Amino acid sequence: MNIPRLLLSFGIAAVAACMQPTLSAAVTSDSIPASRFEAGEGTFLLDGEPFVVKAAELHYPRIPRPYWDQRIKLCKALGMNTICLYTFWNAHEPVEGQFDFSGQNDIAEFIRLCQENDMKVILRPGPYVCAEWEMGGLPWWLLKKKDICLRESDPNFLERVDLFQKALAEQVGGLTVADGGSIIMVQVENEYGSYGADKEYVATIRDMLRSNFGDNVTLFQCDWSSNFTVNGLDDLIWTMNFGTGADIDREFARLRELRPNSPLMCSEFWSGWFDKWGANHETRPAADMIAGIDEMLSKGISFSLYMTHGGTNWGHWAGANSPGFAPDVTSYDYDAPISESGQTTPKYWELRRTLEKYYTDGKKLPPVPPLIKPIAVKPFGFSAVAPLMFDRLEHHSSPDVRPMEAFDQGFGSIVYRTSLPALPDGALLTVNEPHDFAQVFVDGRLIGSLDRRLGERRISLPPVPRGARLDILVEAMGRINFGRAIKDYKGITDNVTLTVDHDGFPFVHDLRNWKVVCLPDDPGFYDHFEYFPVDAFSPDSVSGRLPMGIYRATFHVDRPSDTFLDFSTWGKGLVYVNGHPLGRIWEIGPQQTLYMPGCWLRKGENEIMVFDILGPRQAVSQGLKEPLIDNLQFVRSPYHREPDETLSLDGVTPALTASFDPGNGWQQIDLPAPATGRYVAFEVTSTHRPESPVVAFAELYLLDADGNFIPREAWSVRYADSEELHGNHTADKTFDLQESTFWRTVNDVPLPHSIVIDLGKEVTVGAIRYLPRMEDGAPYSVRDFRLYVSPADFSY
Ligand code: GLA
Ligand code: CA
Repeated sequence: MNIPRLLLSFGIAAVAACMQPTLSAAVTSDSIPASRFEAGEGTFLLDGEPFVVKAAELHYPRIPRPYWDQRIKLCKALGMNTICLYTFWNAHEPVEGQFDFSGQNDIAEFIRLCQENDMKVILRPGPYVCAEWEMGGLPWWLLKKKDICLRESDPNFLERVDLFQKALAEQVGGLTVADGGSIIMVQVENEYGSYGADKEYVATIRDMLRSNFGDNVTLFQCDWSSNFTVNGLDDLIWTMNFGTGADIDREFARLRELRPNSPLMCSEFWSGWFDKWGANHETRPAADMIAGIDEMLSKGISFSLYMTHGGTNWGHWAGANSPGFAPDVTSYDYDAPISESGQTTPKYWELRRTLEKYYTDGKKLPPVPPLIKPIAVKPFGFSAVAPLMFDRLEHHSSPDVRPMEAFDQGFGSIVYRTSLPALPDGALLTVNEPHDFAQVFVDGRLIGSLDRRLGERRISLPPVPRGARLDILVEAMGRINFGRAIKDYKGITDNVTLTVDHDGFPFVHDLRNWKVVCLPDDPGFYDHFEYFPVDAFSPDSVSGRLPMGIYRATFHVDRPSDTFLDFSTWGKGLVYVNGHPLGRIWEIGPQQTLYMPGCWLRKGENEIMVFDILGPRQAVSQGLKEPLIDNLQFVRSPYHREPDETLSLDGVTPALTASFDPGNGWQQIDLPAPATGRYVAFEVTSTHRPESPVVAFAELYLLDADGNFIPREAWSVRYADSEELHGNHTADKTFDLQESTFWRTVNDVPLPHSIVIDLGKEVTVGAIRYLPRMEDGAPYSVRDFRLYVSPADFSY
């Protein structure tokens, strides 16, 4: 091996780091020899031999601990040689300063199990991990320091990161290959390019890892091919993340240019995608995944398949996507080769056949371990309910509205109560902002709800006498885990106002003097509530619902095994069985059942508790043998267009008429003169595939007159003339910050195709930046287009 050439390509700073593994005779016990894992020329090297990483991404907190070993074996039987895993800080430090590495959180045990199964490990300790996990793995209590800057060089943040990383290293720091363990590489931060440009901060995290794991550990960064140079540090290995279908040579082209001798690795090859509430279950074709893996392996490219088995976002751990607010469902099935409950899928078998071709020296693949056979559980009814009666609960007094975190509460629901002045008809209540699902009650009567996903903040109140009681019950869903909006406070984040008409003028009145009731996500908290027989209540004649509240039942299981508990008759809330938090339910779907692992069931009676903030239509459940994770109940149209709407741009002057070039990659075009407005229409009149009327592209940005990116957090799709729902290719995918997701129109609707985006406020636009699809040749990419910018909405 030509070491000097390799080191030259890494730059001077890399010399020390790359040479250390070679120099070290790592300290190890007598029985287990130390190994060396490093970057060689165009490949990784394990003890000097080329090593292609074939990693399966698994997340220990998403798999019941008794099943860890079986899931690792399922990955090994695929022909994988490595397990790749994140570290979930907020699961390990639920309370500031109190670390938990036991039971489900015993990461060291998980890594030792990998080693027992002869699997290497890639550790990704964050501190931020994204992963569709509450706040990207950061603990909510960081938000108690109001001015804290997350993922930046803020001493308040870094101090806590350092303490956690030290605690983690005490658990797993001695498990690297240099110590005779299985960890071959450790990742520095996570896709920092989609958050910011801050090499200093990334270097601080690198230095922490070096001091915790020692100089022998191989460190790497992962980012996208479009942005990895922004935060790439000279002395770290660079790997790329991209999904199935991407043009692989293109993904590595820039890296090959900058570091011709670097090993190549896709550290997140997305097998499927995550689901959000209110949209169809996401799937990705097996054929694309297979083709990508086959191509990478034929070229000696390492990969980690994210996810090989997704598992479950138990309890409150599901995160939310942004821009906008798109909370993730409880299942993290991900359309991965191994299903949420550990079943092999057709994707699994196809993948196994492909990996077999590359398995060492024609040896036979390890056997597939026995699967756990799901059972049915007979339908059962709920016997007891404690209706939620906020006025009977203890409260804090607070002159102003404050978020949930200010009351030292991280999860669950919270009630804000005050009394109203006398109100005429038509008074408007504005909640700034309800995070995440608010229900408004006057004198105990439900007036309506405000759903953050839909940007709802205002509701009309009925006329009331002075002193009427206003209650706002706000349920927190997962904190945003992606993009700049991860500083995501819960409850009501700012204020609540009343707008009343006074002689034709709106009079805005800030509501004050609140009583605040905390309803934590803690089943024990509800034990001493007063319970009544469910039979004592009949469904409300208008809503058809039983009261909102806490429902309890026991159900009988003869021979415990996995099952899928059916909540299709329930409203919205949280479920616990035998004290295990199973996760969130919501009638809108697509998920209607919760995965109930048999290892958490008892032979005989099992206790179930459901906290339902809407109230069930029927307080019953049953265990199914198959999950229902793709059963959307449309409470609103999934299309960004009403049936009678057709955008009309007649008489509107475009701010830009231009063409994009064919091919992959970002393109940017300046407007001839900056244009100001709140609504933007992007009208595509032709594409680079003239034989088809379809338009598809991945991302759209607007830049201001000074060339700065205009933040997209407040954007929403006002209109899209056509959207392909199969695969969720809706227009909002053009600003979800994900380069692998895209808007696609349906096959038989002719050009032109338009989307209208409500930017949330007036901005001045100086340029447009666009990304076609990542697939080879950028299918259906935009050629001629017009961009319109208007202070008022267009006509339809
Ligand atoms: C990125 C992140 C992952 C995950 C995937 C999408 O690649 O690094 O943590 O969020 O997106 O599933
Ligand atoms: Ca996208």
